[in-house]
Amino acid sequence: MCGIVGAVAQRDVVEILVEGLRRLEYRGYDSAGVAVISNSGELQRLRRLGKVKELSDAVKLTPTPGGTGIAHTRWATHGEPSERNAHPHVSEKISVVHNGIIENHGPLREMLKGKGYVFNSDTDTEVIAHLVEEELKTSESLLSAVQKAVKQFNGAYGTVLMDQTDPSRLVVARSGSPLVIGLGIGENFIASDQLALLPVTRRFMFLEEGDVAEITRTTVRIFDKNGAPVERVAHESNVSYDAGDKGQYRHFMLKEIYEQPFAINNTLEGRLNAESVLDETFGNGAAELFKKVKHVQIVACGTSYHSGMVARYWLESLGGISCNVEIASEFRYRKSFVQPNSLLVSISQSGETADTLAALRLAKEAGYVGSLTICNVAGSSLVRESDLAFMTRAGAEIGVASTKAFTTQLVGLAMLTLAIGKYNGLTAAQQKDMVEALRSLPAKLEQTLELASSIEKLAEEFADKHNSLFLGRGDQYPIAMEGALKLKEISYIHAEAYAAGELKHGPLALIDAQMPIIVVAPNNELLEKLQSNVEEVRARGGILYVFADANAHFKSDATQRVVNVPHVHPLIAPIIYTIPLQLLSYYVAIIKGTDVDQPRNLAKSVTVE
Ligand code: M6R
Repeated sequence: MCGIVGAVAQRDVVEILVEGLRRLEYRGYDSAGVAVISNSGELQRLRRLGKVKELSDAVKLTPTPGGTGIAHTRWATHGEPSERNAHPHVSEKISVVHNGIIENHGPLREMLKGKGYVFNSDTDTEVIAHLVEEELKTSESLLSAVQKAVKQFNGAYGTVLMDQTDPSRLVVARSGSPLVIGLGIGENFIASDQLALLPVTRRFMFLEEGDVAEITRTTVRIFDKNGAPVERVAHESNVSYDAGDKGQYRHFMLKEIYEQPFAINNTLEGRLNAESVLDETFGNGAAELFKKVKHVQIVACGTSYHSGMVARYWLESLGGISCNVEIASEFRYRKSFVQPNSLLVSISQSGETADTLAALRLAKEAGYVGSLTICNVAGSSLVRESDLAFMTRAGAEIGVASTKAFTTQLVGLAMLTLAIGKYNGLTAAQQKDMVEALRSLPAKLEQTLELASSIEKLAEEFADKHNSLFLGRGDQYPIAMEGALKLKEISYIHAEAYAAGELKHGPLALIDAQMPIIVVAPNNELLEKLQSNVEEVRARGGILYVFADANAHFKSDATQRVVNVPHVHPLIAPIIYTIPLQLLSYYVAIIKGTDVDQPRNLAKSVTVE
């Protein structure tokens, strides 16, 4: 989704700003822009529809000197993707970039038009520029003008403003969209994601909800939502990300698929002994909290929601407690019943997904005994606002299609099952068995990745297809859902997932030779039931692609292609069976020639609702 970079420095900053945008490309966007104020007070603004490369080419052709600047990648919400709607937006002296949505932009626009302001775009963002310009008339500084303006906004914003007549400072404000200040030596920066600033600093301060800050080359002044001066702690980042480094891989997605054994090893590291999960894995006070927990409510979106669905099977069958899982955008707008001693678990790669964050905030008022987030980004809003955090340690995930974040979430959720289960009847022998299964994961994943070349061949059969069905049962049903999501988001083939037992209640009507049916079939207690469902498809002329345990006795023939997946412990089967589905989507997308790492219309981090 939209990305922000800003800088106030002695040196020329345009290259830093454009490089920052390049590092945020993975988030998804449709246009990019930059504005820089030169030391003599001239504003140079460049905006381009399309990739950051277009902007960077324009910058090379146009001298853009100056030490103070702001830049933005836009993911359209209000107004079509176009150069005139791209940020920065400018009023007379004020330039602004903005992530989020100003929900009351309509009445503000009318009020400002009434005062003579002319709007040059269809965006909600332009009201920020004009409103701050208006407030500046009666304010002693840009800071106080912004403080007055933000009080008039409904909605979400992470915004950075500069005044052409005073290039010594940037003013930034955050409510609902993340912003992080990067601290340099004699220069300071701002961004919506620390990844953008890693080439220039490793010291960061995270702004909190309602904060407004003034940033000069040598000072940072922060004020909380009540206008009181506050200190925010500076953190040293250990995140590493080189946007240019796909290593030997053609795409970040493929690199991230192959990183899974290593990522999962990291996720397990130091958190298990030979027999159980260590108490401190979920943070201080986790054991005391888990003893009380009798119900888990999971909230998440997209891929993270699918990992939550797998966790429900685990928590109820092994963890000994009830569990409900809900899409965060539904949960936040419905009155739900809070079970006694209920723990709210949010799951998110980015930790900034607007709906998931809103669900957590609502839950805080609703009587949960505590909140835990399973998250991949340290310092993200979900991590900071939850009582407990489990970091998935997958490393930066750049491909929009989530891969290693998903499988490491599943590892975290399996450990949560162990941690809660031990207070709810999970025996020592069961715990030991689960620990051994988790420890076997990296090696089993390596083995499973060896299926890549046979899956690549299989992918050729999907090139001319427009629809597909994914089937699974039990804890493989969410894996089928995840497989369908992967295929649709990167290959643009319509894909639906069904619990295989549901076929006969409607979807069987769709079966013909043009509709590939993908089945995940580990050798578990539901295998016979699944085999019957597969026969129902075969009897109606369907073409099947079955990822099956070698002992499950599926045979390849004219209407059925079988890929044998290594035999694994049932606990880790959902993680293992995810891999062939990720590879299948990837290779189908390659054949279809889509933009694998940045599929059309999508954003990596969905910070608006
Ligand atoms: O950062 P989050 O895990 O909260 O993101 C939630 C979804 O937007 C995300 O999982 C999305 O569905 C994936 N890009 C799909 O691959």
